[in-house]
Amino acid sequence: MAFIRNAWYMAGWAADVTEKCMSRMLLGEPVLMYRLAGGKAVALSDRCPHRFAPLSKGNRDGDIIECFYHGLRFDGSGACVKNPHGDGRIPPNAKVRSYPLVERDTILWIWMGEAERADETCIPEFKFLSDPGYRALTGMNTVGAYYELVTDNLLDLSHINFLHAAYQKNDDLMTAENRITQDGDALVSKRWMPDIMGPMFYRQHLKDKTKRVDYWLNSRWDPPGSMSLDVGVTYAGEPVEKGLRGLGTHVITPETERSTHYFYALARNHDLDNAKVDASIREWQRVGFKEQDQPMLEDVQRNMGTTDLMSLNPVILQPDNLAMRARRVILRLLQEGKAPPRDGDAA
Ligand code: FES
Ligand SMILES: [Fe+2]
Repeated sequence: MAFIRNAWYMAGWAADVTEKCMSRMLLGEPVLMYRLAGGKAVALSDRCPHRFAPLSKGNRDGDIIECFYHGLRFDGSGACVKNPHGDGRIPPNAKVRSYPLVERDTILWIWMGEAERADETCIPEFKFLSDPGYRALTGMNTVGAYYELVTDNLLDLSHINFLHAAYQKNDDLMTAENRITQDGDALVSKRWMPDIMGPMFYRQHLKDKTKRVDYWLNSRWDPPGSMSLDVGVTYAGEPVEKGLRGLGTHVITPETERSTHYFYALARNHDLDNAKVDASIREWQRVGFKEQDQPMLEDVQRNMGTTDLMSLNPVILQPDNLAMRARRVILRLLQEGKAPPRDGDAA
């Protein structure tokens, strides 16, 4: 499958991985995740090397997993520690692949390429997710569409005024200048909309709804699938720091060639203990992502019948700009067969 392998992908929210075995398909490979007794999360191939049974269905004995099919036992590094058959000798190929897994900012990041290239300094930053000054509401959906279609959806916000019109219609956002710059392989987009009426999503949270505001929406996309958003409003002319701010996490990881895990979060700096605000954000996440984006992306994938958008000669519109640039970055990284450049790599 044509996925960039030498890159960090989000394997899950850290809180979702416990001492219980969990299986998740990532980049077309079944991955087993669980926590060792000491709390460290590990990721192994969820395929026993004997007859390829899912190890996630096995029995735990401390940190050891016993395959439920014929009883080979493996430790958290994927090494076979017991063969209950014959003379008990452990065959040299009785090994389970182990993937580098890093827990950071409440996220588990997995590296599914060449392990020796797994450089933790390349992990995208989502520090605000563990910032006590913010309240983060997280979730995930698995969407039946190729991951680049999900990227297109995240990077082209013009669909907000149509698909999400009831929740987020926003003409100021549509007409604002979008300044796009590149930072290495990352794409940075900035919109600044001064002296406007509070946008629909934020009006409900503003104390004085009649006052005009300055509104911003900035994003950073790191290949292959991490986007952070910085959105907020402040009363016109007031410092940004005094405003209402929402920091968004939108990270996508291919499940298969036709399906994608979409991990999302919104961390806000206001109304931290307000259950009503929680409920309204969760409602948006459920309706917007699950009931609006997801079915549309699945319909699009069905209608396309392929994962190769450009082979269908699509109409390209002005707001496709960012998504088309992202596609070019992904294509180049795929052709180079490598991760985004790291410090010390030859230019
Ligand atoms: S498939 Fe695991 S021991 Fe046979
Ligand atoms: Fe959307």
